[in-house]
Amino acid sequence: MEMENKVTGKTKVVCLIGNPVEHSVSPVLHNTISGCLGVDLVYTAFRVDKECLESAVKGLKALNVVGFNVTVPYKKDIIGFLDHTSKEALLMGAVNTVKITDGRLYGYNTDAEGFSRSFKEETGTGFAGKSVAIIGAGGAARAIAIKAAMEGAGKIYLINRTPEKARDIAEMVSNNMGTSTQYCSTGEDAYIDILAKCDILINSTSAGMFPHTDEVPVPRLPVFSKNQIVYDVIYNPSKTRFLAEAEKAGCKTVNGLGMLFYQGVYAYEIWTGMNLPESKVRDLFQSFMRIKT
Ligand code: ATR
Repeated sequence: MEMENKVTGKTKVVCLIGNPVEHSVSPVLHNTISGCLGVDLVYTAFRVDKECLESAVKGLKALNVVGFNVTVPYKKDIIGFLDHTSKEALLMGAVNTVKITDGRLYGYNTDAEGFSRSFKEETGTGFAGKSVAIIGAGGAARAIAIKAAMEGAGKIYLINRTPEKARDIAEMVSNNMGTSTQYCSTGEDAYIDILAKCDILINSTSAGMFPHTDEVPVPRLPVFSKNQIVYDVIYNPSKTRFLAEAEKAGCKTVNGLGMLFYQGVYAYEIWTGMNLPESKVRDLFQSFMRIKT
């Protein structure tokens, strides 16, 4: 029998903490990246109970792991244990990636960058000067709104069934980035016109996600026009009803698989200090799509 020497005494470690973590695709993604690039780094996942979060973080620091991802329900609570949190993550109020350097904990949020890279890569365009409508007002909407504003969106509309949450994000974005914003409740018909006119429409809600595949994120869908780009953060199913309707009208449509993939790639870059070669990233994305669809 040959001895297995993939993991040795020199192998570095990164991991995921959250609850639950068993469903996560991050171990597969990160271990595939390490395998593909020949980096001696393994990724594993730990389910951490709420009362153990602090000791888990102290343990990871004591073990001197390279870093870790943080998932629900700790993306906000983790901030209290960090030495430094990036501006973007502070604006989002959530950290999903931590790097440990010289015993200090540095927090980042890679969701916004993951969204932006996926959007650019998959649509071939960006946000500069564009009108952007975001449906939903949770963590994903916040990340997307911040990134679209940072990248020069002309106007950002926040549309949500609970308008107060949409207002909070709209105000945060206009106050911090100076971008023109407007919010709207899905209880008023005004949103239909907004959706019909914006250059870019983004669903950030879970409406339409498996097993509720009949749902759409708004009470009435607009009449889409073919020059609109329609993005859905949902990747299961790969084509939601929202995307299918937009596709029928000839819109360019993109699902959330790329955002999931690129937020992981960016976390990997933060931990290793590498810039992953574009050709490798494209190959990895193709493999990732195969395992997820
Ligand atoms: P995430 O962090 O993934 O963005 P979240 O913080 O739970 O998730 O936010 C989910 C968003 O989707 C919320 O804006 C929610 O609307 P409310 O603010 O009114 O709760 C929205 N959402 C979830 N399910 C929805 C549905 N079936 N129809 C419309 N909006 C929905």
